[in-house]
Amino acid sequence: MAIIRLSLLLFLVMFTYSGAELGSPTETHMTLYFHDYSGGVNATVMEVTGPPGKLPDFTKFGAMFVTDDPITKEIHATSSQVARGQGLYITSALDGSNTHVLMSIVFTNEEYGGSTLEIQATNVQLERVSEVAIVGGSRKFRFARGYATFETMSFDSALHYAVIQFNVTVLHYQSSTDMFFTDDPITKEIHATSSQVARGQGLYVTSALDGSNIHVLMSIVFTNEE
Ligand SMILES: *[C@@H]1O[C@H](CO)[C@@H](O)[C@H](O)[C@H]1NC(C)=O
Ligand SMILES: *[C@@H]1O[C@H](CO)[C@@H](O)[C@H](O)[C@H]1NC(C)=O
Repeated sequence: MAIIRLSLLLFLVMFTYSGAELGSPTETHMTLYFHDYSGGVNATVMEVTGPPGKLPDFTKFGAMFVTDDPITKEIHATSSQVARGQGLYITSALDGSNTHVLMSIVFTNEEYGGSTLEIQATNVQLERVSEVAIVGGSRKFRFARGYATFETMSFDSALHYAVIQFNVTVLHYQSSTDMFFTDDPITKEIHATSSQVARGQGLYVTSALDGSNIHVLMSIVFTNEE
């Protein structure tokens, strides 16, 4: 009977953790710069569907492109790299005006290295500023939701080289260094209305850099007669 009681107790404690682990969301803003080479020997965009060796035609319905643009902290191409913009986009409007973008921002810097943000959006090609949706993320950007803007700062037609300002606003949950306090009722039976035996009072801290483990410091404070 004592063993059964203990297992119920553990079950109730574990159950409340999984609900509280996320904490409150963090809002992050960034201004970064894409360096996009649509032609030349160092091209960072390739037309998957086009004939080899020709410049990409962004206005042809159904044209598909794969990209791997360096993304830097400052506007200059030689400024330190923060991420890569890796993914694909497809001209998705019959009249060639819109592209559908499916892209990961793959961070390479110390602060966010290994984390990603995921973009899925329609991009209106001729708009000066286009806004895209951020639909997810990983590691430091778990459960990311937000939006980003793209604005072309300069275009060198001889080098096929564009510098694009990329502003990110995202809500997400940090995967490390979060701390939570708890005071959970612990009951004899599985029902919440069953008689209270103790309180689970203490704190827990997310203790793995990747957010996979929590460190628990807790007292089971008995309140029953026994
Ligand atoms: C291509 O990249 C190489 C290596 O980074 C560089 O030396 C060369 O100048 C680049 N060429 C052009 C046309 O940008
Ligand atoms: C992006 O952010 C920069 C400064 O961080 C600002 O000057 C610029 O106006 C913003 N662009 C858009 C389209 O909001």
